[in-house]
Amino acid sequence: MAKTFDRHRRLRSSATMRNLVREHHVRMEDLIYPLFVVEGSNVKNEIPSMPGVYHFSLDTLAEEMKEVVACGIQSVILFGVPEHKDACGSEAYNDNAITQQAIRQIKAAHPELIVIADTCLCEYTDHGHCGVLRDGEVVNDESLKLLVDTAVSQARAGADIIAPSNMMDGFVQEIRAGLDEAGFEHIPIMSYAVKYASSFYGPFREAAQSTPQSGDRKGYQMDPANARDGMREAASDVKEGADFLIVKPGMAFMDMVLRLRENFHQPIVAYNVSGEYSMVKAAAANGWIDEKNIVMETLVGFKRAGADLIITYHAKDVAKWLEA
Ligand code: PBG
Repeated sequence: MAKTFDRHRRLRSSATMRNLVREHHVRMEDLIYPLFVVEGSNVKNEIPSMPGVYHFSLDTLAEEMKEVVACGIQSVILFGVPEHKDACGSEAYNDNAITQQAIRQIKAAHPELIVIADTCLCEYTDHGHCGVLRDGEVVNDESLKLLVDTAVSQARAGADIIAPSNMMDGFVQEIRAGLDEAGFEHIPIMSYAVKYASSFYGPFREAAQSTPQSGDRKGYQMDPANARDGMREAASDVKEGADFLIVKPGMAFMDMVLRLRENFHQPIVAYNVSGEYSMVKAAAANGWIDEKNIVMETLVGFKRAGADLIITYHAKDVAKWLEA
């Protein structure tokens, strides 16, 4: 007698059959590679909590960029870490600061590469907050002015995309207006729309030397318990003119990738953040997990959730694995 149950295994019967019916793929074009740039020369220092990720000075960055481009990476996101930090993060909007120099250098050598500038003040302020402080509070509207100056300076240096990550209210609207006024109406904004106050950023803050000296970021970044707040933030950013929407941390909050995918039509970007990277690296170094399979599974998970793009420190390794 014929069985009445479904035979799902028919489509899983061989590697070629599985290839035939695979729904999602990770391609090099989907990946954005983060880079940390510092002042000085001949610097290539590994970040202790992020094996395989380095601080580069401009000279060593030039070498690194050749490798990055040769392995098929098509876009990078830059984080400048200046030596001089002050209360108002003045190196963020100085046309000759390290981030601007790095953007100019990369665009001159690799004009086709997409260079994304992270627009925030926390790498540039001595107190480590993403805006300016008054009476210990990060003040919104005053910080916006400096963030607009930062974005315009980054665009002037040649950034292809501006990625504001500071979580001030109105940041997309003000930065859009500032870019337009300065003649950069063609430069898209990739907004950190859904950004939680997360401990997963710990290793990044070591790399960017941007740990807040007092308090935390909970007054401007979102509560990890809140999904609806994330939808409201994303809706504001879309209304204000965001061209891309980022979810961060991506792996911990893949539900938000799916929710944004179902509610908005902008490209969705999952940020596979530093702490998520460090956990995989630490477990792999102990021989506890299969690094390649874990990373590829995570990345295809982002794609399945609806991410168009993934910012990931694993990008160079993925290039190697996709080729093999
Ligand atoms: C800047 C910024 C941070 C990250 C990206 N941009 C740190 C933070 O908000 O504290 C974190 C990225 C990562 O953890 O990989 N504000």
